[in-house]
Amino acid sequence: MIEISSRLEEALNRAFIKVFPKEDRSSTTSSILTGSNLVPASKPEFGDFQVNCALSLAKELKQPPREIAQQITDQLQKDNDFVQICNPPLIAGPGFINLSINSKTLISEIHFRLNDKRLGVPLKQFSSKKIEEGKINNRVVIDFSSPNIAKEMHVGHLRSTIIGDSLARVLEFCGYEVIRLNHVGDWGTQFGMLITHLKEVVPEALHTKDVVEISDLVNFYRQAKKRFDEDQIFQNKSRSEVVNLQAGNQESLIAWQLLCNQSRKEFQKIYDRLDIKLTERGESFYNTFLVDVINDLKNKNLLINDQGAQCVFLDGVVGKDGKPQPIIIQKSDGGFNYATTDLAAIKYRLTTPPHGDGAFRLIYVTDAGQASHFSGVFQIAKLANWIPTDCQIEHVPFGLVQGEDGKKLKTRSGETIKLVDLLDEAIQRASEDLKNRLNTESRSENESFIDKVSTTVGIAAIKYADLSQNRVSNYQFSFNKMLSLQGNTAPYLLYALVRIAGISRKGGDLNALDQNIQFNEPQEWALIRKLLELDCIIAEVEKELLPNRLCGYLFELSQIFNRFYDQIPILKASEPSRTSRLALCSITADTLKLGMTLLGIPTLERM
Ligand code: ARG
Repeated sequence: MIEISSRLEEALNRAFIKVFPKEDRSSTTSSILTGSNLVPASKPEFGDFQVNCALSLAKELKQPPREIAQQITDQLQKDNDFVQICNPPLIAGPGFINLSINSKTLISEIHFRLNDKRLGVPLKQFSSKKIEEGKINNRVVIDFSSPNIAKEMHVGHLRSTIIGDSLARVLEFCGYEVIRLNHVGDWGTQFGMLITHLKEVVPEALHTKDVVEISDLVNFYRQAKKRFDEDQIFQNKSRSEVVNLQAGNQESLIAWQLLCNQSRKEFQKIYDRLDIKLTERGESFYNTFLVDVINDLKNKNLLINDQGAQCVFLDGVVGKDGKPQPIIIQKSDGGFNYATTDLAAIKYRLTTPPHGDGAFRLIYVTDAGQASHFSGVFQIAKLANWIPTDCQIEHVPFGLVQGEDGKKLKTRSGETIKLVDLLDEAIQRASEDLKNRLNTESRSENESFIDKVSTTVGIAAIKYADLSQNRVSNYQFSFNKMLSLQGNTAPYLLYALVRIAGISRKGGDLNALDQNIQFNEPQEWALIRKLLELDCIIAEVEKELLPNRLCGYLFELSQIFNRFYDQIPILKASEPSRTSRLALCSITADTLKLGMTLLGIPTLERM
């Protein structure tokens, strides 16, 4: 629909020029007529698009709005391209113009999608010459997941992982080269206490492989922290251990590596189960760039010495006491902060290869709690002139995951939930639901079918529940809701696909569709119109980074498909309706599959 709507927009502008010659326009008239006057119809019965400007023009020109609308529609009817695409426009109510795409155009769009793997979604064109000249760039960095070493990956990291992966998939599909970065917290003072503790309690770990497991490691972190808080000698040892590590002491580095490897292995198990690809580039990677950050900010007069610490003060950043609040870039002991690393990361990601990633868009997917951190860091980077004008840098925040009681998600006994347990429980519950359903339907299926379906549905449900919410709001985690076959859920979408696969098993050949297609029923037209919206939806997600838009679209598509499936015959219809309806089934299946793939959600043929 993107192409059609831009053709309509052009036709509309041609009509405007005829009715309101440019030289006669007042500034108000010009401002009404410039910009987009074509909006999607507010109700399907109004057609596909609406033009509302006759009303505001009427006020300005002191003429009846319906008359103005009439003049515009008269011109549109004389426009060749317009009459190719649209039915005669209708004037409704006080002076709205309703436009509906004609059936010839809709059918030819459907034909096109039958043979187009991208289902009408254009691939961004980046000419390699321009890329070489550095004039345009198609590289995007998405910083997501990013758990901390030796700590448990929590539900916030799960959200970041699921949302970040889906955004990466959408941007890759649009034609960008996406660098998926896992900015793991693998550096910092906490390693002082971890290494000190490790050397004392499991000295053999430094020489044997695999002695510390992560469930231990999380506990291990707690023990180390407890000792650090309570024991002065331990604290001092830990402090000098940080110095050792930073100075590159061999044994400290081995211990650090070991802790990182253990965590990495555990994180990877989650990524494998969720089918997530990520490149690890932890905070430690930026160590050698930190001094440059300080020097650069110093040279640009952005640093202020505040009680020995090097700080940046930003306009409007004040603490609770109303006093200007510094962002500390280098602590008084010479150490660096989370913000310093992020500044180095911005610089690196925007610098052209081989000294950096050469990206033009940087996206950070973390909980909304980090919004002020990112806003501060981005402002500093802008003040330091590190962000070229055609580059974009965005924080993609998301809300908290809550239990059904609206409180922080916890186990029954009040502990934080482990991600592995969360995934296991979703699969377990999906498997119970499935067995019940098989029972009521008197179906018998083997173990491997049950396993496959429950795993797919369980993982799909967890991902979809997260993605289908507007990410900015907090979201209530409910196994019952996410696994339900009704409503905006993964099982509902999966089921629509299974129905189509069923049609094809029952003899509806979805591949050999000849050219003679015809449509008569409103259910067919509604489905066609929905199918053609895909390109607009993808373009929206690319811009606004809201995967819930895609989810909402797939849900509506499934509903419209189900109405079509329930209300009119498909396999039993006579030709050419049978073939035509099978064509719609085929495109619906492809659209659902593509959409789910872009969300990172696996699909099924049977369930
Ligand atoms: N490790 C951080 C956390 O667990 C998230 C890092 C996000 N990325 C970044 N470049 N700061 O909260």
